[in-house]
Amino acid sequence: MEVFTTISAIRSWLECHRKDADSIGFVPTMGALHEGHLELVRRSVKENDVTVVSIFVNPIQFNNKEDLAKYPRTLDTDLEMLRAAGCHAVFAPSAEEMYPEEVKEQYIFGPLETVMEGAFRPGHFHGVAVVVRRLFDIVEPARAYFGEKDYQQLRIIQALVKQLGLGVEIIPCPIVREADGLAMSSRNQRLSLPERAVAPVIHDTLSKVREMSREKTVEYLVNYATDRLNGVPGMSVEYFSIARTSDLQPLQHWPEPPEPCAAFVAVNLGRIRLIDNMMLYS
Ligand code: PAF
Repeated sequence: MEVFTTISAIRSWLECHRKDADSIGFVPTMGALHEGHLELVRRSVKENDVTVVSIFVNPIQFNNKEDLAKYPRTLDTDLEMLRAAGCHAVFAPSAEEMYPEEVKEQYIFGPLETVMEGAFRPGHFHGVAVVVRRLFDIVEPARAYFGEKDYQQLRIIQALVKQLGLGVEIIPCPIVREADGLAMSSRNQRLSLPERAVAPVIHDTLSKVREMSREKTVEYLVNYATDRLNGVPGMSVEYFSIARTSDLQPLQHWPEPPEPCAAFVAVNLGRIRLIDNMMLYS
């Protein structure tokens, strides 16, 4: 497995593979890898000749300085895990390499970016779109793999690809969970033992909402879930939203005729922010 830190080095390595008409699969990450990331990597390895993973803690997508400073950085372990998963090349640039000048790009995603993560983390999706676009320009993958835990991010990336006519196929991959249901996330490493012990209630609440989604109103379920999560010591709900998957706008009533819907949640558990989601019956 090759490890590159400069754009020119990875570009020339990829050039040789492109000459051989190899298909390139790409998994963008911020490191602190877990089984969820490795699933994306394994899938890319299966579906492409060459798999590239980027590891870059993107400063411009953090609206909270403490979150950026404390984001786990575990490069040596990440590289070992990627080698074992069959990854061919890692791109781990510095912030100066990715942002040698002031960022001038502007992307507009309309209603998709004004709700949920977009409403609570101003500038977040702009930062994600800027870095993903730059990474796509560098790697020029045939396919790029994104986890459905960050569902709104996935939809923003799909919109970016469509808007700019980028020739990258976006492959959504299912959420990977711990045995007790907690969605895997690099932030889980920062939970204290008591926080980790109560964190599975997020998945449990989503599952209960899903079970009740045919019988109860949207309003009842949002209140039920919000109260249940707020009742957990140390946990406070930022949002709990039931939305159509097509536009992510919060629903007041179940759509008629039925359309695919999901429940989306963000909570703060102590100082750690966790998100999760689940498809519902509608
Ligand atoms: O999901 C992430 O880890 C990041 O938002 C991404 C897509 C790597 C962009 O920095």
